[in-house]
Amino acid sequence: MAGHNVFVSAHPLVKHKLTLLRDTRTEHKKFRELIRELAMLLGYEAMADLQLMQHDVITPLGSAAGYKLQEEVGLVPILRAGLGMVDGIHEMIPGAQVWHLGFYRDERTLRPVAYYNKLPVEPTVQVCLVLDPMLATGGSAVAAIDVLKAWGVSRIKFVGLIAAPEGIEVVTRAHPDVPLHLAAVDDHLNEHGFIVPGLGDAGDRQFGTA
Ligand code: PRP
Repeated sequence: MAGHNVFVSAHPLVKHKLTLLRDTRTEHKKFRELIRELAMLLGYEAMADLQLMQHDVITPLGSAAGYKLQEEVGLVPILRAGLGMVDGIHEMIPGAQVWHLGFYRDERTLRPVAYYNKLPVEPTVQVCLVLDPMLATGGSAVAAIDVLKAWGVSRIKFVGLIAAPEGIEVVTRAHPDVPLHLAAVDDHLNEHGFIVPGLGDAGDRQFGTA
């Protein structure tokens, strides 16, 4: 998929785990484990340009030049399916704040409908990772990024697992400054707004609600 702001992971572990995730035979427990592991691998790549400040420490043998993270990072899962991507990334960056945003897709129009947002008035983070395994029409991602920009966050990254070309086009057009970190770009969207071949409904497969 073209676009200088679209990063599709080339990591063999990502390809291996994504294949297991797609497989209809993968049951809910395993599905959740894979979402968590894939989120960590992609989150690691997405956080490669976090800013550091110098932070020297004393070792048992003397002084060592070192670093610590400079920016406050927000993890922003889009409910519901993004929830499974939080824990693994949060473990790697325990100081991150988690801000949930609820959007569901209207089944008829496929437009995102906002139903949960408890962001405080003033922004409390400098960088946000929007987490959602599926980028279909792109409506949910654009809406979430709109909310974060209106909140006052200027550095935003989207971390997803599978995207449709149609959705990538929509998000990169609306928010050309937001990099997309993905495990795969699939073939197309079907008439119901599902990614083909995709993996089905990522929310239902995580939470056993199919
Ligand atoms: C799915 C998916 C994304 C969204 C993607 O959520 O998890 O959030 O659709 O579609 P879009 O790119 O066309 O906006 P869904 O509405 O099924 O809600 P759920 O996560 O609660 O199952």
